[in-house]
Amino acid sequence: MNAAPDKIGHVPATAATALESDFPQIEISQIAEQESWRKEINRPIYHIHKWWATRLGSVFRGITLGALSQPGTDTWEQFYKTHDLAGKVVLDPFMGSGTTLGEAVKLGAKAVGCDINPVSTFLVRQAFTPVSEAELRAAFKRLERDVAPEIRRYYQTRDPQTGELIQVLYYFWVKTVTTPEGEVIPLLSRYVFSQDAYPKKKPRAQIVCPDCWGVQEDRYDATDLRCQHCGNQFNPQKGPAAGQYVTAESGQRYRIKELLPKDGSPPSHRMYAMMALRADGSKVYLPVRDEDLALYEEAQVRLSREALPLPEASVRPGHNTDQARGYNYTHWRDFFNARQLLCLGLLLREILTIDDLAVQEQMLCLFSSTLEFNNLFCSFKGEGTGAVRHMFSNHILKPERTPLENSVWGTEKSSGTFSTLFESRLLRAKRYLDEPFEIAFEYDQDGNRKGSRKTVASHSIRARRVETWDELDTADHGLLILNGDSSRLPVPAGSVDAVVTDPPYFDFVHYSELSDFFFAWLSPVLRHRYPWMAREDSSDQGEVQHKDPRVFARQLAAVFTESCRVLKDDGVLAFSFHHSRAEGWAAIYEAISEAGLAVVAAHPVHAELRGASPKTAAKDPISLDAILVCRKKAFALHRSSAIQDVRQSVDALSSRLQAAGLRISAGDRFVIGAAQTLIARAADDLGFDEIKEHLETIRLGVRATAREVESGVVDVHLATV
Ligand SMILES: C[S@@+](CC[C@H](N)C(=O)[O-])C[C@H]1O[C@@H](n2cnc3c(N)ncnc32)[C@H](O)[C@@H]1O
Repeated sequence: MNAAPDKIGHVPATAATALESDFPQIEISQIAEQESWRKEINRPIYHIHKWWATRLGSVFRGITLGALSQPGTDTWEQFYKTHDLAGKVVLDPFMGSGTTLGEAVKLGAKAVGCDINPVSTFLVRQAFTPVSEAELRAAFKRLERDVAPEIRRYYQTRDPQTGELIQVLYYFWVKTVTTPEGEVIPLLSRYVFSQDAYPKKKPRAQIVCPDCWGVQEDRYDATDLRCQHCGNQFNPQKGPAAGQYVTAESGQRYRIKELLPKDGSPPSHRMYAMMALRADGSKVYLPVRDEDLALYEEAQVRLSREALPLPEASVRPGHNTDQARGYNYTHWRDFFNARQLLCLGLLLREILTIDDLAVQEQMLCLFSSTLEFNNLFCSFKGEGTGAVRHMFSNHILKPERTPLENSVWGTEKSSGTFSTLFESRLLRAKRYLDEPFEIAFEYDQDGNRKGSRKTVASHSIRARRVETWDELDTADHGLLILNGDSSRLPVPAGSVDAVVTDPPYFDFVHYSELSDFFFAWLSPVLRHRYPWMAREDSSDQGEVQHKDPRVFARQLAAVFTESCRVLKDDGVLAFSFHHSRAEGWAAIYEAISEAGLAVVAAHPVHAELRGASPKTAAKDPISLDAILVCRKKAFALHRSSAIQDVRQSVDALSSRLQAAGLRISAGDRFVIGAAQTLIARAADDLGFDEIKEHLETIRLGVRATAREVESGVVDVHLATV
């Protein structure tokens, strides 16, 4: 890049960092894709607890390295080297699960992370707290001794073969509605309730009889079955529920919503089958018998007698919560059945007796993780795959017609339980603190990729957690984790070397509506310890998210303005972004401009998410993020380019990525084009509507091009709008 006078800057501008000129897009995309297959294993510190839309660690290592390196540095060459960027400070004003923080401290830099959401702050603090495995194991053993037997006793049944008590892995439930005539109808669309994830290969399935509720095995696609228990003849593919309707025995059809309880309580449920674990380790499907119902009732009675730390908070109306509220899920405790509430309450009460607060909070974090897989919004994924589909598999809280009840403590054959997550999430994350690793490809003699391996490229995460800027300022290494609105940071002006972040995306995840689910449990037990936990819910006026893109832009501008204030003049602010709509990008342009920043470079990389906004995700899946690199306007080197140049860039970059094996959709081409448009228009100070129009032109242009290219009508390089 030349150090030519520019249209924006008041002084001749030059690139100050490697990230402004180059980025190893292909190499990092390939390694990021590899990471995304098993992200919980490849970057366990960011997956200690549920967070939404977490970004890939490899990409953020690349960005942070580029942002802290001299121009001309080959970032890829440095990627697997051990660095000690002592004294450098990296800020993430939208901390989320802490991806930027982890990658910055792995490079030896100091990191400041701030999130407005108390659940984010809590989980990131836990992720970066070094507690020894021995201490955690001791605490776990104590819980196993003191509370696990009490919990486990509610998850057992008698093996009909041997008469022995065996452990239940899952209970299968179905919602029921009652017609005005008093008929109780289960909301089953099929009577096949368990089949393999690949049923054509493994056609064996479990079917429940609509008459006697006996459980039997047959093909997943059987259409005519005689119940082996009661002789009832039925079609397993045809249950009474279809779409929004349910059909009574008389043939009368009802809208399901019209049959919901009139007293405002959530729908009723029927427990109808179980999967249990035999003493020899094999799994067996069983019908629900009287003693199983009696055990559940016992749990109900005990729940009404115990004083347990259960959630009291109500569910706020909102984009993500309205559907659940429409089904009368108005309080967070409605998301659990009586046995789940009892067992979770018993476990939480015991965790709170752990004296060592650091250890106690690790266990609280693990407890909160367990909630995700132990509630009535979970369902069964099928055999041959992780059994439990957790409640956040899409971003809307959708009431589940056939909930799956997992066991809270769990067995060695469980997943998503307190005991299994202890190993798979908590301990794995702690080991990563001691020995952080990257994944690297392995090649055979001919240069063909033959697999991947872990490689250690960082010192252990030594950064000590500090509580104030002053403490951080005087240390060589340190980590400051804040809760609050990042439009007001307790950080002096011009003190941060790089801002590396992933802002909320317009009209995408409404974080606090979802995090309230966890907050409802955590806040009552932590509110006396942390002021930021002492509020009614996890929302905040300052949260950046709004359905109006202009309002969203203003909110985002406030945080970018503050980030710009604390950034050094030669520092970059870099963030990942994608969106399928022009207005999403227009909001970003406006926020950047208003903050006094300009986009100077954009690098497309593999993003884990396939989807840009819930409405368009299915049509045009996006698998790219644009890494937008901004400088303060006064120091920005501006490359003004015409719209033709933008199109050429789209073609060139798409071809490069495709040649490297990445699938590039029309949506991806728009991501590249929109990012290039923000660079091309950086100096023009356009209004929202003007930039939106430019972006819309690009959107239509690149999409048409992609379709024509696919159908072979035009050569990609010749296509014009
Ligand atoms: C896209 S997420 C970040 C994801 C993160 N990069 C990761 O990998 O986990 C955006 C975050 O911004 C936070 N946020 C929204 N408005 C904020 C504000 N005004 N100040 C600080 N954080 C905010 C949200 O709570 C959310 O955690």
